[in-house]
Formats: sequence, structure tokens, C-alpha cells
Amino acid sequence: MTYPRARSTIEEMARYQPNLSAPSTGRIIRLSANEGAFGPSPKAIKALNSVAQHIHWYPEEEPAALAEALGSKYSLDPDRMIFGCGSDELIMSICQAYLDPGDEAIHTEYGFIMYPMSIRVAGGVPISAPDRNYTVDIDAVLERITDKTKIVFIANPNNPTGSYLSHTEVSRLHQNLPHTVLLVLDSAYSEFVVRNDYSSGAELVEISENVVMLRTFSKLYGLAGLRLGWGYAPKHVIDAIHVVKQPFGANRAAVSAALAALDDQKFIDKSVKHNEIWRTWTSTEFEKLGLYCLPSVANFLMVRFPSETGRTAVEAGTYLSNRGILTRGMSGYGASDYLRLSIGTQDEMKIVVKTVSDFLNEKVPSDE
Ligand SMILES: Cc1ncc(COP(=O)(O)O)c(C=O)c1O
Repeated sequence: MTYPRARSTIEEMARYQPNLSAPSTGRIIRLSANEGAFGPSPKAIKALNSVAQHIHWYPEEEPAALAEALGSKYSLDPDRMIFGCGSDELIMSICQAYLDPGDEAIHTEYGFIMYPMSIRVAGGVPISAPDRNYTVDIDAVLERITDKTKIVFIANPNNPTGSYLSHTEVSRLHQNLPHTVLLVLDSAYSEFVVRNDYSSGAELVEISENVVMLRTFSKLYGLAGLRLGWGYAPKHVIDAIHVVKQPFGANRAAVSAALAALDDQKFIDKSVKHNEIWRTWTSTEFEKLGLYCLPSVANFLMVRFPSETGRTAVEAGTYLSNRGILTRGMSGYGASDYLRLSIGTQDEMKIVVKTVSDFLNEKVPSDE
């Protein structure tokens, strides 16, 4: 049959597939997308409701009040911010703005899967740098720099592994990059990190011409459904991204909820504390069950399951899903022995651990 063909570079690509499907009845425990345990701040919900009568108006082209609020919260220059429909949109726009066909962009082995997808969609060539022990290996990244390299993507903390690079390590990476390479520090989970040697990357943006920091309201702030991400970068990078990005970076509803969420320090503190306590509890309980968890500083854990039939991660994912618990299989990341799950409420984590324990204790049907 003759029909219009998509571009050859994307024809063979599969679309991004989150695990959000759930049985239609019963309680759903959704731990597959790292959305934050408590949902949105009540203040954000109130703000969202109050904006309803104005949704027939286009939003501002760039949300000035939100840029000001972020600027004062994180001590940043509001003029160097850019907003998008989730940080996903900004990742894609960066690729479109900086990659000519055939240009290379480096991502890491177990890095966020949207990087290689966006690089390909933009016509670039994704180059994977192997991790060491499920952690970004800076030397492996640096070894892969060529004359064609235009972008390096690092998620810090990294999704799906939960590992992180210290400020010193990120600075070493930056110092050794050619000035013509754009370093994208994706700090989607930075608000959860409680480590003295960690930094979100904003200070590197301040002192250089080739660093972009990406952030999102989808994780700690619990606003994933509103799709709001932001970037902090030198002015020339912001200008380049604006050329390819959709106008109206942030919708009215998202801006209004985000302003209220930023202001709710009590909710923020409670969420971070809860995450620390229940991530530690969950990994300890899994380890008691004989499962290994990668050390994580974010709001999720990557858990390794045995390879024997009846006990595998894929089977565990199905078992949990049949009981209304959604987790994320890691086959798409080439780590099919693992499941990733977000830290939910206390009640949810207890149910998950109990259900995994039941799964591991189920009698495996023998071949005889
Ligand atoms: C590392 C990382 N970057 C970016 C995103 C995208 O977030 P957003 O909802 O802002 O598009 C995610 C979402 O899971 C992520 O894990």
C-alpha cells in the first residue's frame, strides 16, 4: 500500500510507554511514575480551582510571576528561565535547537529514556556511555566526546537508578568538556536530595556559557498532570530554545498551581522527610526479603529480583499489577532483572512490601 511515510529516522521508533494502565476496579496504588507520595499541596488545588474562570484567556508568553517566585526561592535570575509542557518538552526542544542531522549527543546507559528518543527524533545520533555500578561514569562520558558531539545529557539524580553525582564530579565533567558542547543537567528529582555534596547545577549555569539545568513541577510538587517544567540557562541558550519551542510555555492552570505549591513550605518539608523515612524503610524491608535495592537519593527505588522462573522482576510486575499495584518494568532500559517503584504513602509501602513477600512465597509450579 502507498501512504505517506514518516521520516526514516523515526519510522522504526517505538513511542514512550509509561505504565499507567490499571485494573478498572479496586484500589490502585500507583508507583510507576515517581509522582510524589502526597499528590499536590492543598494550596495548589485551591489555586487551581480559582483560575477556572480565566481559562479562555491565553496565558502570558512566559510566566513572569512564576519566574520571579522561582528566582527568589532558589536565588536565580528570572531572565534566564524557560518553561515547557513538562521538562520533556524542553529536552525535545534542546535537541531540535542544537542537533543538525548526524550530530552526536551523549546519554548514559541507564539514563532517562527520553534522551535517546528525543535525540533521534531531532535527527541526531544518540551515543550511550556505559554506567559503572548503575551510576553515571564521567570518564566513560568524556571518552565518547568527538568533533560531532553537541550535547551531553546527565540526569542528577538519575532516573531510573536513583544514584547521583556529587557537585565535585559534575564540575569535573564540565571542566573537561569542550566549550562547544552543551551540558544538560536534568535535576528533576533534586528537591528530594538530602546530601551535602549534591547540587542541582544552577551554580554551574551561573559561571558558564554551556550548561542548562532542567527542573520540573511533576515530582516533589505533585503537579505532573498539569505538565510544567522549567530550565535555567545562559541567555543565548534560552533564545535558541525559544525558536523551536511552542509559544506559551506554561498554561494558566499550571502556573497558578505552581505558584501556590512553591509557597507551601510545610508541605514540601513534609514530603521530603516522608520520602527519606519511607525509602529507607522500604529498601530495608526488601533486603530482608532477599532483594537488592540500588542506593537511591530520589523518590523511587530500583529493586533486583531473582532470575529463577516464578520469581523474576517481570513476573513480580505482573503479580503486583494484577493486585492494583503499578510499578515500572526495566526491560526498556536493558535491566530486566529490576523493577522500579516510587515511594508512596506509608500505607502503600506496607501493602507493597507485603504483596512482594506474598509473591516470593508463592509456590512455583514445577514442570513435573
Ligand atoms: C530524569 C527525568 N527528567 C525529566 C522527566 C520529565 O518530567 P516532566 O513531567 O517535567 O516532563 C522525568 C520524568 O519522569 C525524569 O525522570
